[in-house]
Amino acid sequence: MALRYITAEEAASFVNHGDNIGFSGFTPAGSPKAVPTAIAERAKAEHEKGNSFKIGMFTGASTGDSLDGALARANAIAFRTPYQSNRDLKALLNSGDINYFDMHLSQLAQELRYGFLGKVNIAIIEACDVNERGEIVPTTGVGISPTIARLADKIIVELNHKHTKALRGVHDLYEPKDPPYRREIPIFNVDDRCGTEFIKVDPSKIIGVVETNRPDEVGGFAAVDSITAKIGENVANFLASQIRSGEIPKEFLPIQSGVGNIANAVLASLGTNPDIPPFKMYTEVIQDSVIDLMKNGNVTFASGCSLTISPSVLEEVYNNFDFFRNKFILRPQEISNNPEVIRRLGLITINTALEADVFGNVNSTHVLGKQMMNGLGGSGDFTRNSFFSIFTCPSVAKGGKISAIVPMVSHVDHSEHSVKVIITEQGIADLRGKSPVQRAQTIIENCVHPSYKEMLWDYIKLADKVHTPQTLSACFGMHVQFAKTGDMRETQWADYIG
Ligand code: COA
Repeated sequence: MALRYITAEEAASFVNHGDNIGFSGFTPAGSPKAVPTAIAERAKAEHEKGNSFKIGMFTGASTGDSLDGALARANAIAFRTPYQSNRDLKALLNSGDINYFDMHLSQLAQELRYGFLGKVNIAIIEACDVNERGEIVPTTGVGISPTIARLADKIIVELNHKHTKALRGVHDLYEPKDPPYRREIPIFNVDDRCGTEFIKVDPSKIIGVVETNRPDEVGGFAAVDSITAKIGENVANFLASQIRSGEIPKEFLPIQSGVGNIANAVLASLGTNPDIPPFKMYTEVIQDSVIDLMKNGNVTFASGCSLTISPSVLEEVYNNFDFFRNKFILRPQEISNNPEVIRRLGLITINTALEADVFGNVNSTHVLGKQMMNGLGGSGDFTRNSFFSIFTCPSVAKGGKISAIVPMVSHVDHSEHSVKVIITEQGIADLRGKSPVQRAQTIIENCVHPSYKEMLWDYIKLADKVHTPQTLSACFGMHVQFAKTGDMRETQWADYIG
């Protein structure tokens, strides 16, 4: 069946108010760009005519500005899941104007299949290649593409000529069967393959192909500074000590590393520590630093869900594709973040906290308990199922006015039962095998900024001799103080105990 080439505007005309749309990609990598922008324009035109026009959105994770940003600014989103990071979208979901729900990224595809989240009317998939047999080759991000392509009634393909067709072969696309028929996922080594190189769909579902030539809208990273460099050094030294003590097997274990500036800096530090052997990564997002580590021989292979690298670094990868093509695999997030595989491979996971409490609970998503930052992403998938999990963060934020270590986190993403090690620029708290009191002592002594140490030592003395020395009237005292005066350092516990 011949493919039908259409414009982005024609593609947008197939989208109706109330439709649920599944978008390809993961982060700005592999996310469609032209059709979402055209849908946003259509929404604006409908609104001007006095008509309602909003869609439900399923994405892999965050996307680019021409998708999340354009649709948010057009007020065209009824609900959205999962992870996001666009400024305009964030403003609307924090004001309650968009119904947003956050999810473990590994669970989204299966919850769509189980029917928990409603129907997928249209899938919009960015591809580097597509043919009349219904074979669609994704670009730099996979996300939930195989599942939405199968579930959707209709498919629109954005054929992006910015990406080389040589990407065919780097994907490994596998969808598990649903219970009670599910079997083990046959990945026993980071570089094992178990799926196909392309998404296969019924070609009659492809209602149009929109040709584009647009780069992924991936931003750069903040430069490594003295704080992030010190955090990275602490992580590398901790891992080296674990190799020496034999707690990490001598063969070493695959690494997962989280998203953002801090994760990027931490990973870079692993490459400069002579005691860290070359390693493989089973991770979600392959960021810029991984490419440097590959070039230097520190990372020998990376399995991920996306190649989220800045345009200049992607160009370098494409220009040297013979070197890079056998060094990475891109998988659906259901597989890159799969708990079964993560536990089997024994990943050392390194993610970033916004805040942690003295007992080891971690908040990665909610600023001061209320405002959504980005979302959970894969941090829960990896942390809970790891060989051991590490959380990193600077000990203070906002010039010292916020302590990242508090008595009780203002939102819990990862509980004390999953969090094994906390590392700040101040030092390392190894929480394994420790009681709540011992954890508090270790975290305060090793990780807290000097300007908050005495305050937190005083906090745990407020409680009587109990299993978890928490004082309910005071546990959010530092957050309340920040809301009142803009500085947690002014907290006086006497103000918070009755
Ligand atoms: N309270 C309030 N604000 C805080 C804070 C706290 N306890 N701790 C940090 N912040 C602020 C910082 O000041 C900074 O804000 P600014 O840019 O306005 O100064 C921001 O939060 C963090 O940005 P940055 O320092 O650049 O961190 P990052 O880019 O490394 O991102 C996370 C850190 C936690 C937001 C990011 O890693 C994330 O979204 N994680 C959750 C998802 C995840 O872990 N995915 C990985 C799975 S594979």
